[in-house]
Amino acid sequence: MNERPPSSCSTEPLHASHHCFASPRFADESAVLADAYRLLDDAVIRYEGQPVGTMASLDPRAPADNYRDCFVRDFVSAAFLMLIEGRSDVVREFLAMILRMRGQQEELEGQQIAPGVLPASFRVVTLDDGSEQLSADFGDRAIGRVAPVDSMMWWTVLLRAYVRFTGDTAFAHTPEVQRGLRMILSLCLQSRFEVFPTLLVPDGSFMIDRRMGVNGHPLEIQALFDMTLRAADLLTVDEGSHWLIDLARRRRGVLRDYVRRYYWLDIDRLNEVHRFSTEKFGHDVDNVFNIYPESIPEWVADWLPDDGGYFVGNLGPGRIDFRFFSQGNYLATMAGLASPRQGGLQMNTLADRWDDLIGQMPAKLVYPPVRGAEWRLMTGSDPKNVPWSYHNGGNWPVLIWPLVAASIVAGRQDLGERAFHVAERRLMNDSWPEYYDGRHGRLIGRRANLHQVWSATGMLLARHFLEDPGQLAALALIEDGPPEEDARTPPDQGGGAT
Ligand code: GLC
Repeated sequence: MNERPPSSCSTEPLHASHHCFASPRFADESAVLADAYRLLDDAVIRYEGQPVGTMASLDPRAPADNYRDCFVRDFVSAAFLMLIEGRSDVVREFLAMILRMRGQQEELEGQQIAPGVLPASFRVVTLDDGSEQLSADFGDRAIGRVAPVDSMMWWTVLLRAYVRFTGDTAFAHTPEVQRGLRMILSLCLQSRFEVFPTLLVPDGSFMIDRRMGVNGHPLEIQALFDMTLRAADLLTVDEGSHWLIDLARRRRGVLRDYVRRYYWLDIDRLNEVHRFSTEKFGHDVDNVFNIYPESIPEWVADWLPDDGGYFVGNLGPGRIDFRFFSQGNYLATMAGLASPRQGGLQMNTLADRWDDLIGQMPAKLVYPPVRGAEWRLMTGSDPKNVPWSYHNGGNWPVLIWPLVAASIVAGRQDLGERAFHVAERRLMNDSWPEYYDGRHGRLIGRRANLHQVWSATGMLLARHFLEDPGQLAALALIEDGPPEEDARTPPDQGGGAT
């Protein structure tokens, strides 16, 4: 554990001041930073006087009541920022409180509570007698009743960042945290009907929290799963967790090989898929998922650069989802789930397809959108998710931080800088929208909230990474050891199962 000296940034009020940054990058930058910090400050949620999180949006016209909640996934960028800026006490309180809320989950008739599931969001309710109560949503109230699978993963990633950044191993070793971690890892590692090393989830179980054809084995969940498994190193062995630590380590190895091999798409792989023979039984077949070449969408062959590649969005029996999902791709590169070669090729794709993946606001959440009959069937005719909007091809400012992190890890910080430059010049003037619309993200999202907090914290965090790339290691977001290439023999999984 690397003990870190306390940050020299101020601790009061909540935000650290933007003087944490060395020098302004352009004339109005200090105004932009001040506005971002103001939004962050105004969004702080306090419980019994202590800051414990931030609201998702301060827009009074936000369409749903729960935008005033603190979402676990939304808070993560604010939490990384707070660690860097000397407010680790807030992060610790948040981590401990989220764990305590587990007990609030209501039992559904005839079902056992999944013990590792953490809430999507929570709020502080003031009762008539003036006392405060925490009220959590485990997906039982959320629009569409979606399961927040990513919450427990983001919590784990944040826990590891907190422990590594502050050196506070004592917190990780408390019985509550050990129990929480064991539950999360056991839940993720429990086998049900799995034949793949990837994690099977329902639709809308992560940042894309609506019907969008992202059920099955979506890339973003696999990238978070990989990062979650790493946190097994926080378990103490004396608690009888040896088997769990070992299982997590082995699963992670298999998961990595599998994602690197089967999710990866470059022109050679596309050629293979294009000429696949089908209906093959047995171990030694190349088309293990029985993909019909006819299912390759027309856009792919023209879009995929010669010297590029990326991870496809989803994979399962008879199914490759060829869409480019930014968050999953960038997290995979940041955390080393992508091999160094793959990370480099992914950055070539970003450079070659800049207008599609960045355009006028980083970054496109999903490229390309689904339309027509596919949109009707996949989204259930969702008017928020019309083509080039919201989750269906909208541009989300929060994605600037994983993008910048990936660009640094892949040795293409120039791309991160360029994307950051596009974002920082627009966001304040547009009042920090949640997302942008259009093929190139030129318009503010039709139904987007303004004053969306993670649009500001994502930018501030990316700014820290660009200024001091060492923060990625300090937050344990990148691989500890030297990067390993894809040298290992591909696993049998996926092959043997069909
Ligand atoms: C939307 C987003 C989700 C986010 C929430 C709060 O539902 O899809 O990812 O957590 O808003 O900002």
